Amino acid sequence: MSARPKVLVVLGTRPEAVKLAPVVRALRAAGDAAVRVCATAQHREMLDLMLADFGLRPDVDLDLMRAGQDLNAFAARAFERLGRVLRRERPDLVVVQGDTTTALIGALAAFHERVPVAHVEAGLRTGDFANPFPEELNRTLIDEAAVLRFAPTPRAARNLGPGRRGQSVLVVGNTVLDALCWALARRRPVRDPRLRRALAAAAPGDPVVLATAHRRESFGPALRGLYRAFGRLVDAHPRLHLLVPVHLNPEVRSAARALGRRPRVHVLPPLGYLDAAAALSRARFVMTDSGGLQEEAAFLGKPALVLRKVTERPEGVRAGVALVAGVDERRVFALASRLLDDAALYRRMARPVSVYGDGRAAERIARAIRVRLGLARTLPRAFRPNSP
Ligand code: UD1
Repeated sequence: MSARPKVLVVLGTRPEAVKLAPVVRALRAAGDAAVRVCATAQHREMLDLMLADFGLRPDVDLDLMRAGQDLNAFAARAFERLGRVLRRERPDLVVVQGDTTTALIGALAAFHERVPVAHVEAGLRTGDFANPFPEELNRTLIDEAAVLRFAPTPRAARNLGPGRRGQSVLVVGNTVLDALCWALARRRPVRDPRLRRALAAAAPGDPVVLATAHRRESFGPALRGLYRAFGRLVDAHPRLHLLVPVHLNPEVRSAARALGRRPRVHVLPPLGYLDAAAALSRARFVMTDSGGLQEEAAFLGKPALVLRKVTERPEGVRAGVALVAGVDERRVFALASRLLDDAALYRRMARPVSVYGDGRAAERIARAIRVRLGLARTLPRAFRPNSP
């Protein structure tokens, strides 16, 4: 009997672990391909937190993160080491997700070794290489290199166009919602003691808002302004509790100091996935520059204020459940205040919508990969969103 085809899943950061864990699980459940996971560990602590929650152990761990790393130094280390992994493992397909440096270098290293690439979350675009930086260029290049392109939404698929010969596009939904459905079904009590204390401090009727901000293009005055806006919001709303998990990037931690020490502002460490899902479930709305959180919030009917100049996820905005608030301190403060004070506006925005997926993306991806590897015959039916 010939060896089973081999799939190598490359991941390095927190969001990649969340969005690829369901794909690894679905492929392994099918049982007819060998699935190996290679972690660059571009993030160390934050990746480990996620891997632990999903019970995912990397088969190869390159452990490449260095404190205060710059992207070029990290990319150079990743290129060299991933090349060696590919030559040793000889996979039939490499799977990358999203737009991180790990995903880009994983796709290029595979291309150099003539291994076909599958891209999960293909086709997201703002059209502006400075926003988000450097992710917009990363994902554009990955989509050029990939043969299997899994678009989360019809809009993302349109951004990709027909592609070249040998390239395919399939609309599957976003795997983050598979992860979220799985996490919520687990119903595990909150593990992080600081989050537990924060949730206990808010009385049942008190509004709780989840706020995160960490994007590179906002580093400097804009990011500090966002954290100041969070603080002012709490000062102006005497019952409001703010949950603020802070990313470990030193630039972000330093900007978060603008929050100061205030009652009802709960500055938290990065949360594991199950704890993050619990925080989101309790939240009235979210203020965030994270992509995954925008998708999860829409699915659960939590309005989102997007703390960015542009978003590659316009589906939530078009469905009326998200607003691009930008990065200006005054505007963010004003919009968040309205969402707290204007019950009619809140009701209009607090609707669950399945524009980003239905929790079955990984199943579709696994099937399409198995078709590519000659292990299955028919492609899955595409995901269809329930609103524009
Ligand atoms: C990266 C990704 C971004 C993704 C984000 C999610 C790129 C270019 N950017 O940005 O797309 O949305 O991750 O979080 O790939 N650090 C720790 N411990 C950790 C993780 C990070 O100490 O567990 C610190 C390190 O000092 C590291 C720094 O954070 O040098 C920055 O991490 P890095 O991966 O370079 O970039 P991010 O800004 O996190």
